[in-house]
Amino acid sequence: MRFVKAIVAFVAAFGLATTAYAAGETVLVVGGGKSGLPLVKILKEQGYKVRLSVRDKSKAGDVEAGVEVVEADVTKPETLASALKGATFVISTIGAGGVEPPNNAENVDYKGVASLADASKAAGIMHFVLMSSISAGDTNPETFLNKRFGMVLMWKGKGEEHVRKSGISYTIVRPGGLQNCDPGKVGLKFGPAGANLAGRICRSDVGLVMADALTNKDAVGKTVEVISEDGAPVTAWKGAWAAIPKS
Ligand SMILES: NC(=O)c1ccc[n+]([C@@H]2O[C@H](COP(=O)([O-])OP(=O)(O)OC[C@H]3O[C@@H](n4cnc5c(N)ncnc54)[C@H](OP(=O)(O)O)[C@@H]3O)[C@@H](O)[C@H]2O)c1
Repeated sequence: MRFVKAIVAFVAAFGLATTAYAAGETVLVVGGGKSGLPLVKILKEQGYKVRLSVRDKSKAGDVEAGVEVVEADVTKPETLASALKGATFVISTIGAGGVEPPNNAENVDYKGVASLADASKAAGIMHFVLMSSISAGDTNPETFLNKRFGMVLMWKGKGEEHVRKSGISYTIVRPGGLQNCDPGKVGLKFGPAGANLAGRICRSDVGLVMADALTNKDAVGKTVEVISEDGAPVTAWKGAWAAIPKS
């Protein structure tokens, strides 16, 4: 496994990565919600082995055939090591389900994300992709999402900060308002952290971006905002990573 990971690291570092190299590597997708499930499908189609972690297997949604489903809860760090075992990559699609502990933004989007990043680093994960949100880090209590969801943007910002400082290779993807629609039908617009792009995006298109980030050297150590852009060439975003500054 160490040898395989070394090859993947070499390939990513020198920009040689292709889906052919990625094929066969195991991606742990954390969270089988409305973004996690379409992401699983995309990764399967790209040739990855996919492991999906959910909190309760008996409540797992409609999971693709051939996907290993395991249980883990980011508010219980002791559940993470076994879910991570043997994985090469991690993509987190989790988000707090409400405002009451234990599953509030502080515990999930901050402490849970931090625990997941630390456990991923300890497990030797090659690259960690975090699905966050445009405006993460906003500490204004009057901002609608902060007011409605227990300062969720502030806690997401703290989760992001932990990932950046954790020492793991990472990409943070901050989407706009999420919609359920088919992937690859519209163009996407990228912006750096803080651009505060205004718009919506298909959850599955966020999945395409996060899958691309796994082996794209231009995505390493970056935080990107992303929304749909009508009229833009559908795959032009793949060349947009290079212009995003490290952050
Ligand atoms: N809604 C928007 O417009 C919007 C915009 C930008 C960014 N975002 C962010 O994008 C991400 C995905 O959003 P979504 O609407 O696709 O999410 P979703 O369908 O609500 O799924 C969230 C997932 O998080 C998991 N989760 C919650 N608490 C957990 C815990 N303690 N341990 C492990 N997993 C846990 C849930 O698992 P269970 O199935 O076990 O509950 C669920 O699979 C979230 O971080 C969200 O805040 C949302």
